[in-house]
Amino acid sequence: MKKFDQNILDIIGETPIVKLGKVASHIDSDIYVKLEYLNPGGSIKDRIGKYICQTGMDAGELKPGGLIVEATSGNTGAGIALFASVHGCQAVFVMADKQSKEKINALKAMGAIVVLCPTAVEPDDPRSYYSVAAALVQNLDCFYTNQYHNQDNPNSHYHSTGPEIFRQTEGQFDAFVAGVGTGGTISGTSKFLKEKMPDLKVIGVDPKGSILKHFHETGEMTEAHSYVLEGLGEDFIPTTINFKAIDKFITVEDEESFVLTRELLQKEGIFAGGSTGAAVLGAIKYAEGLDKPEKILVIAPDSGSKYVSKIYNNEWMKSHSYKLEPIDEKLAASINSILPKTDVTIV
Ligand SMILES: Cc1ncc(COP(=O)(O)O)c(C=O)c1O
Repeated sequence: MKKFDQNILDIIGETPIVKLGKVASHIDSDIYVKLEYLNPGGSIKDRIGKYICQTGMDAGELKPGGLIVEATSGNTGAGIALFASVHGCQAVFVMADKQSKEKINALKAMGAIVVLCPTAVEPDDPRSYYSVAAALVQNLDCFYTNQYHNQDNPNSHYHSTGPEIFRQTEGQFDAFVAGVGTGGTISGTSKFLKEKMPDLKVIGVDPKGSILKHFHETGEMTEAHSYVLEGLGEDFIPTTINFKAIDKFITVEDEESFVLTRELLQKEGIFAGGSTGAAVLGAIKYAEGLDKPEKILVIAPDSGSKYVSKIYNNEWMKSHSYKLEPIDEKLAASINSILPKTDVTIV
């Protein structure tokens, strides 16, 4: 059994890459998706949870059994919670209240204390999730993973995601596309890949309402507007984003991202979160503007299982007036004709 002598942290990474078929059939470029949702905590953030906490532990800043505090949209929390489980640490996660119930409940079930804060307040408001996390850190004896300003976030991708992609693909692609939140994924991965592939184009995906694309293009801060997509875009500039590592940003909107997220499941069997739909949409928009076809690699950050009450819930889609795929009325009618007239129904 020596071969299985590993814990849950040891199996983070080495995620597979699949090529899209039907969803991108109208473009000549090839789109490849790296399925980061197959990490044990269900997202790419397992990589930073493990790396940041291990680095803290190696430096003596986090003791086994110690307390970890983080401001998270849920995925980094899950990654940190895995580390906390293995090392007997406690964790407190501060979250904005727009995050899905699945993410909040999972963190509580993993043994963490979760603090919910209003989404619709300025970052410097004392009730914002950044401010609350900072207050906890000032007043508790804890290790602050601080994904928005800790350079070990991009460093973790420089040391794991970047080399892994290069090894898996042998550098045989033209463009790398990732959604940007803390910017850790795109900044660290781009730094490694551009060292090996100087001609690589790196495209960031930003939701409409976020300030990142405008800041990249002009250096100016603008006012942010709310949007529904989770994990992407910001209303401030995290110091973990290296704007020089990003060649271009593409804007995507909530509805088109969610519609594509569901299409990825229905047409490709890719059960991913909304930021994957957003990133694939960014890749398609990038491809549509090309003169000649390219090979484009896209990151799928997290699992659809975290959004079953939202994107994968038809009632939720309808409540936002988002477009739903039509059901097969003919098949539904023939099923209905067979069903007992009461108590049994298609849902
Ligand atoms: C679902 C999801 N997608 C994408 C991202 C963006 O990744 P990064 O923070 O590395 O820019 C995040 C970050 O929280 C996320 O939670």
